Amino acid sequence: MTLAIRDLTPGFVGEVSGIDITAPLDPGQVAALEAGMDRYAVLVFHDQRLTDEQQMAFTRNFGAIEDARGGNVTRPEEQRLAKGMNDVSNLGQDNRPLARDDRRRLFNLGNQLWHSDSSFRAIPAKYSLLSCRLPATSGGNTEFADMRAAYDALDEATRAEIAPLICEHSLIYSRGSLGFTELSEAERAAFRPVRQSLVRTHPVSGRTSLYLSSHIGTIVGWPRPEAMAFIRDLAEHATEPRFVYAHRWRQWDLVMWDNRQTMHRVRRFDDRQPRDMRRTTVAGDAPTAEQLAA
Ligand code: OGA
Ligand code: MN
Repeated sequence: MTLAIRDLTPGFVGEVSGIDITAPLDPGQVAALEAGMDRYAVLVFHDQRLTDEQQMAFTRNFGAIEDARGGNVTRPEEQRLAKGMNDVSNLGQDNRPLARDDRRRLFNLGNQLWHSDSSFRAIPAKYSLLSCRLPATSGGNTEFADMRAAYDALDEATRAEIAPLICEHSLIYSRGSLGFTELSEAERAAFRPVRQSLVRTHPVSGRTSLYLSSHIGTIVGWPRPEAMAFIRDLAEHATEPRFVYAHRWRQWDLVMWDNRQTMHRVRRFDDRQPRDMRRTTVAGDAPTAEQLAA
């Protein structure tokens, strides 16, 4: 079996073959996948019948697993999956779809907004790895937008304007934009805004990208409506069809993406049927901007 990566979208999405990621990898395979992530920003694997333990072991090849605490409104005793796994399904502990008005479901609907994972954390995520254990019966594609290509397509004046800008990101903002505003004091404290640069440079390729997310609630030093109008405009540009790849899930696909260079969203699906998606997340290594004192 030889590892190969072919273009699904030239320079953005690669489809990997010739590897069994349920088994331990050798250093050559890890290096090839890392190089693939640096060149593309999204890698697609098929027919990987992962257990949660195998998914976490595969993820650790690329760095430490991010601590998922503080990223949702699911209480610890309600968790369906073990620590280290992000449950992105629409299921409760009984493996049945959550009720329509379940708070966890309403919160998770925020994944239908374009975002970058954990941009609401002071040290945001590096990679996300999403395993499809059971696809939706209809809808539920996940779309990815290339923030490097979007940056490259900006005019000079806009690039100069955004270079120094810092945004504030919080789950309060993304959920608030859907009208999900009922949060406890503890949740508000856990979701306190953090600061992120609006422009990032990839440490290996040197490519520049827009760092956008629906978690953005303002630009530091700007009047808020002006900031949000500008962010909307940038996001509209960055998610034009020419920058977007839509992944149509098959059971046992795994898609791995670089949150530093992409945004993603899930499209609407039939939520009365199970959709079992499980994510692991590779922690980032540094903040992108100076934070306010806690
Ligand atoms: C995620 C996410 C989208 C999906 O796992 O971070 O946004 O397709 N998921 O469920
Ligand atoms: Mn996500």
